[in-house]
Amino acid sequence: MGKIKVAVIFGGRSGEHEVSLVSAQSVMNALDPERYEIIPVGIRRDGAWIVGQNPMRALKHEDFSGTRSVAMFADPSKQGLWAMIEDVSEETPDLLDTAGGRELVSPSRIGSLANLSDVDVVFPVLHGTFGEDGTVQGLLELAGVPYVGAGVLCSALAMDKIAFKDVVKARGLPISDYVWTTRRRWRVEPQVVMDEIASRLGYPVFVKPANLGSSVGISKCLDRDSLKRGIDAAAQYDRRILAEWAVPHAREIEVSVLGNEEPIASVPGEVVPSREFYDYAAKYIDDGDRASKLLIPAPLEATMSDQIRELAIETYKAIDGAGMARVDFLLDDEADEIYLNEVNTIPGFTPISMYPKLWEASGISYPELLNRLVDLALERYEENQRSERIYRPGE
Ligand SMILES: Nc1ncnc2c1ncn2[C@@H]1O[C@H](COP(=O)(O)OP(=O)(O)O)[C@@H](O)[C@H]1O
Ligand SMILES: [Mg+2]
Repeated sequence: MGKIKVAVIFGGRSGEHEVSLVSAQSVMNALDPERYEIIPVGIRRDGAWIVGQNPMRALKHEDFSGTRSVAMFADPSKQGLWAMIEDVSEETPDLLDTAGGRELVSPSRIGSLANLSDVDVVFPVLHGTFGEDGTVQGLLELAGVPYVGAGVLCSALAMDKIAFKDVVKARGLPISDYVWTTRRRWRVEPQVVMDEIASRLGYPVFVKPANLGSSVGISKCLDRDSLKRGIDAAAQYDRRILAEWAVPHAREIEVSVLGNEEPIASVPGEVVPSREFYDYAAKYIDDGDRASKLLIPAPLEATMSDQIRELAIETYKAIDGAGMARVDFLLDDEADEIYLNEVNTIPGFTPISMYPKLWEASGISYPELLNRLVDLALERYEENQRSERIYRPGE
């Protein structure tokens, strides 16, 4: 049997571009070379997709000589994902040699069209907007290629904090109470919006843009003045803004989930943020002794730990999770009340990231985790193929 061809996509247009490079490098290093052939595909900050000799090195050093930017489009009738080479020049032959020595594209086939169709599975290692939010997943669905991780709906739901809350609330899962507004309404009637938030949620309150990550645009607001500043800040990043009751004495508990229709949950872990809450600096800036700490497993009573794992699986199923996700909770340490916070469908994937570390602590090594994710991608693709796409009345 030949090797499984895995296209690993990394970089992207989100604020988590660098994190994606680190995650993807770890993934490519750990994919078993006996079993997989890797095709690296980069996305630059400006959105250009690049293939060529070493897209990872090119993105890291922002030096794009030796790479070619390609226009991507999906055409299932021609079996897959295609790349239109924008500039077929004398350097084109270089393009054909990827790091693995494999021919990624064959312009000779149809002029300057390049075919990624004989890729067996795509592994998007893209965090945040235009990667983790269902957009790239939509392209891959159109192309009809199997891919690792959540599908379009789950990705979009997990990215949108308002839609996520609406869905899990309807399932009776525990979340902190919330109010949301559009940016337009905030412009038109700011006093009414603030009255509504204050009367329903009180202070302090967390204010967030609906779609973002890395704590960007998130504020803890203690009074009406800081609420106004917080909403203005969130409104810079999104058209829809969420205000949430602040969970008191909040401990940050995270669970890794793996699987398609019968997902399993890892032991819970805990993040001890270096700041008042887990903001951007606590996530990415503080280091050394100042850095936020991961406790694996989280020091929890067995009953609480079981309850949280159960909730992680219910949440995953509620949003049609597939492949993987990290489910994050906030635990009120005084009242012993647990609240769902959010789901990350493409969590940090470096060997020191919570997602793979929780699996390691639960008996699944990093390379084994990758094997399972690829298998799950193929399994879900097969399952989707079982659906009739065309209805013929009377047959
Ligand atoms: N309702 C809340 N109560 C207490 N702390 C919160 C609440 N919402 C967010 N936080 C704090 O803000 C951090 C970032 O919020 P989160 O919704 O996880 O955004 P992101 O998607 O950017 O990670 C959380 O990890 C937590 O520290
Ligand atoms: Mg978070």
